[in-house]
Amino acid sequence: MMRDLVQVNEGSGPPTELIFGDWYPAMRTGGLRAGKTAKAMLLGVPLLVGRKNDGKVFAMRDLCPHRGIPLSAGWFDGETVTCKYHGWRFEPCSGQCREIPSLTSFETLDPTKIYAGAFPCEERDGYAWVYLPEAGTGRVMGELPPVPEVPKFSARFRSAHLMAELPCNVDHGIIGLMDPAHGPFVHQAWWWRSKASIHEKTKHFEPIEDSENNGRNAGFRMSSHAPSANSAPYKLLGVYGEPITTTIDFVLPNRRYETIRAGEKWFASLTTVTPVTASTCRIDVYSAWNVFYWVPFVTPIATFFGARFVRQDQQTMIEQAEGLRFNPGLMLIDDADKPAKWYFALKQARLKGTGEHPLQGPVTLHWRS
Ligand code: FES
Ligand SMILES: [Fe+2]
Repeated sequence: MMRDLVQVNEGSGPPTELIFGDWYPAMRTGGLRAGKTAKAMLLGVPLLVGRKNDGKVFAMRDLCPHRGIPLSAGWFDGETVTCKYHGWRFEPCSGQCREIPSLTSFETLDPTKIYAGAFPCEERDGYAWVYLPEAGTGRVMGELPPVPEVPKFSARFRSAHLMAELPCNVDHGIIGLMDPAHGPFVHQAWWWRSKASIHEKTKHFEPIEDSENNGRNAGFRMSSHAPSANSAPYKLLGVYGEPITTTIDFVLPNRRYETIRAGEKWFASLTTVTPVTASTCRIDVYSAWNVFYWVPFVTPIATFFGARFVRQDQQTMIEQAEGLRFNPGLMLIDDADKPAKWYFALKQARLKGTGEHPLQGPVTLHWRS
């Protein structure tokens, strides 16, 4: 759908460092029937994603360990993937080789000792989440962090998802996502807000430490607060007359969780900005809610407005990427760009393994938006 609107490979900006050792959404799984495969790319790693006959999704490195041809050039029968070149056959969840057709009784080579690259892969919220280990750490063993998921607060809910490819590196995608100051300019609309509605805001933040894991999924929370008076969708939620609480969490490597609750009613979303390559990324938004559960057309309408919102961000970043190609110096100002500064500090702490957090405690920021 939206991916057809732009050519993201054109004019990709400068690359950035990538965070391995975590879960990333590779693709939507709704169209992936048993016995089918699809190609995807995460952090510059080509993937063959598929679904076995038993329903389990898998993600293999899309390269045959024999001589490097993409496994996607071969065949999948719902149980094993067969390479097109010499017919080596692999179990796709483990990557284990099951057969090398050229072997004779004169050989002692045990095919089951050979493994194609295969990554942990789990389905959540209609995405194939793939765990990409640090390079050179071998097959993934031991306990993995939990698979990210949108929190749900009732058994019945509706959901929607949006996706947009961005021609910039993941850092620009993420700081664009958490940037409060672009709203009145990029997202102008009569039903949302205008430049004229800019006013001063005070927001409270607190650190999310994740110290048990040395800050692996550290981040920060914008604490519960009464929603922006100039945001129409929040006014709509207010029809239930309950006090509204909102939390927005950003956690490494790339996740923004938003939760809005008013009594029994809730809306939650998980937005991720995922590196496709070191210089391109993709934004995915998955939302779930039980507000207006019985009202028809809410899902298509919400999706329509959400898509418009994401498209405005996407269009802006496409224009920004044109400039970034020239490697300009950039600046981050206080307080509106403070969350972006925290993001860069958190990312460096994770890459260096220092476990340091840029927030010592609660912080209040002020900006106009
Ligand atoms: S390259 Fe795959 S079997 Fe030879
Ligand atoms: Fe935006």
